[in-house]
Amino acid sequence: MSTKMEKLKVLSLCLALLIFSPHSSSSFLLNDRRFAPSDFPSVHAGKLIRELNLFPKEDVNVIEGGADRVVGPRIVEKRFKFPNLVGSDSVSIEDLGHHAGYYQISHSHAARMFYFFFESRNSKSDPIVIWLTGGPGCSSELAMFYENGPFTIADNMSLVWNAYGWDKVSNLIYVDQPVGTGFSYTSDRRDIRHNEDGVSNDLYDFLQAFFAEHPQFANNDFYITGESYAGHYIPAFAARVHQGNKAKEGVHINLKGFAIGNGLTDPAIQYKAYTDYALDMGIIKNTEYDHINKMLPVCEMAIKLCGTDGTLSCMASYFVCNSIFSRIMALAGDTNYYDIRKKCEGSLCYDFSNMEKFLNQKSVRDALAVGEIDFVSCSPTVYQAMLVDWMRNLEVGIPTLLEDGIKLLVYAGEYDLICNWLGNSRWVHAMEWSGQKEFVASAEESFVVDESEAGVLKSYGALGFLKVHDAGHMVPMDQPKVALEMLRRWTQGTLSKPVADSESLVAQI
Ligand SMILES: *[C@@H]1O[C@H](CO)[C@@H](O)[C@H](O)[C@H]1NC(C)=O
Repeated sequence: MSTKMEKLKVLSLCLALLIFSPHSSSSFLLNDRRFAPSDFPSVHAGKLIRELNLFPKEDVNVIEGGADRVVGPRIVEKRFKFPNLVGSDSVSIEDLGHHAGYYQISHSHAARMFYFFFESRNSKSDPIVIWLTGGPGCSSELAMFYENGPFTIADNMSLVWNAYGWDKVSNLIYVDQPVGTGFSYTSDRRDIRHNEDGVSNDLYDFLQAFFAEHPQFANNDFYITGESYAGHYIPAFAARVHQGNKAKEGVHINLKGFAIGNGLTDPAIQYKAYTDYALDMGIIKNTEYDHINKMLPVCEMAIKLCGTDGTLSCMASYFVCNSIFSRIMALAGDTNYYDIRKKCEGSLCYDFSNMEKFLNQKSVRDALAVGEIDFVSCSPTVYQAMLVDWMRNLEVGIPTLLEDGIKLLVYAGEYDLICNWLGNSRWVHAMEWSGQKEFVASAEESFVVDESEAGVLKSYGALGFLKVHDAGHMVPMDQPKVALEMLRRWTQGTLSKPVADSESLVAQI
């Protein structure tokens, strides 16, 4: 059979599955629920993310019949202080250096991107670090409050300083994106993004405006970080920044590196790793492994057809390949696929409801100057709009960045199933670049924090891979101190060396 015939056959099979299979299901990356194609695309917002105990009022931040583009400055930002901040009586807004703002997206009809900017608690010359939460369609405030932000939310709605916030070693930005997520909104549906071109252009345009607003930070080192579906955003965004720098498009951005935590980057390799990981971890048995693996060739062919820029074939491969994941989950029962050591209790895998409760308080909304804009914790509409992007391979743009000396750190909590360390390790090893041989041959070393092994590191040149012990999908939530040490050593270039003064950081809290 010719390749062309094979492709046609797979494509029609995919389409048949797409249209007829009532059992295919899909999962949010960092936030999840299943839905059958029968209720696709009209997915019910509340149900979609109930496993995280989130219930946004709207399923996307589109202000119907809203005003057209606002005439005015591109960035509207204010210094703010959250109400109910424990131990802040003597701290002024100026001291805090905390900013919340909206950026009016240049290449949009009427979209505004919301962001937080927390100046470093240590030094203004620390690197600028931007964090992107995945979904696609989940607000970065999830990470801000539950992983690596300056504060955590207490049950009485007080904010408490996070001893391991990443603002202890960096000037830290969180953005709500793609448009329609979190406090970011548009009044024109055409602004909803469908691919990494849209996402990375918006982020690049934001950075340009951000550094124009904060020129004193424009020469700082710059790092891109994030998690889960951001395994797609991050390489695209890094490539976009690098391209802008090379073409002298705008303000030069001092991009030094990008880090992906439990991400989805190279689906062909990562979907193949699901059954291997599940077998290794005792989630499925050998017979089940063999049975589910029969679906692999179709999934692989479908992903190949999708490539880096397919459309319909990408959609089809999403449904075909995710049935592998759902077969595994059908056997795993109530196991939490973000952390296989845990169970989902009732319909809840995590409880992030305090974030919505906190951000919907009038005093908080006033402090942030978000007006009447709803907070959409996770947007099913944004998620669906990105389905065509899901199976695309984002590894392909990375070698160029490595060759130009831009660092990549891929890290993964060892107990996450959905973006497991095995699949991530495999694509990192398989990536072709000038240092591939040396990376593959390099010895594993202990990543030591507090005199005990917190993970296993492999590195060569600009590339590092860190498997983090005792952590699931959200490494900074499960191992906050280790994650902060990781960021600090990586940005300072000491990740693979034992650091004598690593304890001093912790002593300062
Ligand atoms: C709320 O909880 C925090 C953290 O447990 C505590 O420090 C604070 O005193 C509490 N505030 C009130 C008003 O009870």
